[in-house]
Amino acid sequence: MSIPTGPAGPLRFPPAFGWGAATSAYQIEGAAKEDGRGESVWDTFSRTPGRTRNGDTGDVAADHYHRYAEDLDLMRDLGLRSYRFSISWPRIQPDGTGAPNQRGLDFYRRLLDGLHERGIAPMATLFHWDLPQALQDADGWESRDTAYRFADYADAVFRALGDRVPVWLTVNEPKTVVQNGYLSGHHAPGRQDPDAAYLVAHHLQLAHGLAVRALRAAGGTGRIGPALNLHPCYAADESPEAAAAARLHDGYENRLYLDSVLRGSYPEDVLADLGPQSRMARGIRDGDLAMISSPVDLLAVQYYTPIYVTGDGGTEHRWPTSEAEWQQIYPDGMYDILTRVTREYGPIPLTVTENGLPTPDALGADGNVDDAGRISFLREHLAAAHRAIADGVPLESFHVWSLLDNFEWAEGYDQRWGLVYVDYPTQRRVLKSSAHWYRSVIADGGF
Ligand code: NOJ
Repeated sequence: MSIPTGPAGPLRFPPAFGWGAATSAYQIEGAAKEDGRGESVWDTFSRTPGRTRNGDTGDVAADHYHRYAEDLDLMRDLGLRSYRFSISWPRIQPDGTGAPNQRGLDFYRRLLDGLHERGIAPMATLFHWDLPQALQDADGWESRDTAYRFADYADAVFRALGDRVPVWLTVNEPKTVVQNGYLSGHHAPGRQDPDAAYLVAHHLQLAHGLAVRALRAAGGTGRIGPALNLHPCYAADESPEAAAAARLHDGYENRLYLDSVLRGSYPEDVLADLGPQSRMARGIRDGDLAMISSPVDLLAVQYYTPIYVTGDGGTEHRWPTSEAEWQQIYPDGMYDILTRVTREYGPIPLTVTENGLPTPDALGADGNVDDAGRISFLREHLAAAHRAIADGVPLESFHVWSLLDNFEWAEGYDQRWGLVYVDYPTQRRVLKSSAHWYRSVIADGGF
């Protein structure tokens, strides 16, 4: 089957469109023991034998903590208008509570100053999975208290960095923590406990809402929203069974997170499926959904793949699969999910905070990295985003995952997702052909 192709002819994006790229702290920073940083669940998990491919850890990663100035220059050379990164909670609060660590804050101050000097708008994620290990030792996201600890951490960050950050994202992909951290167990903390998983979902949503309130309470001027990975769910065949199964699957993949934030309710079908005695159902207290649905300024959408659901609730693949075995390449899914969010949840401003593809990149003898597959992937997905804008979706920016090759969690360094190649033995950065292409797209405002 071939990849659906986009429309012919030039596509022009709005002049103020926020062309961007994204990273996260644990995946790029390295410097795991520097400047008072504490341990996170990913330090523990990745150092546990058998948990990551080749035993890879984020100890050094792309060494961005030391090379951030060079990386800022790369962003400027690409012409990026927006850079999405995350703040490492264990750099700010090594044990997950208490007074902030000044040296940790200073790193992000330097980074933010560097972005402003180069005219690049920062977008800061508060939690991209690196929970302080000390909080995990106290039950992590299974404990309601962790949501309150997150609000305290967020408050400290807002007060220290709020003047420099125009857009905040609260929790990155709560669903991935639920599914990979607590259902399949192939992410930290490596649990396989469905009952715990959905209690964790509730506490992550509560943490999001508490952080939104904390920003308002601190008088913050920045905008704030959640970063949700949304998966359009389609019935795998025409049967009523497949339609019903796809609908419930959609509840777990999308509505659990969207409805709670944007409608102040959890989807009835999911609650019924979990049952009234589930730990989640018992963990929801009066006022929680009002907190979770505290008004947000924007919604960050991460789109990678569709899901096809069969009548028995299983899933199957219909489109070509990438190096990430969970990813089917289906650009129309980008259009479907963006237009659906606008149709069903209203005209809230949207940003795409992640979209990308891992490819088997290698440094050629000529010194180039040819990643033609990434170029066609991005071209088709941007074309789908453009169609959504043309149909009225208030999409203001788009961030490629990722700026740099980095630590792809359980896959370690084997999967390369960057526009920029990282030669790990030397930490040399090399612009891939996709980076050159993206630079010209940004300069032209389209392609
Ligand atoms: C989503 C996550 O936010 C990011 O950390 C990860 O590297 C990409 N997906 C690719 O899997």
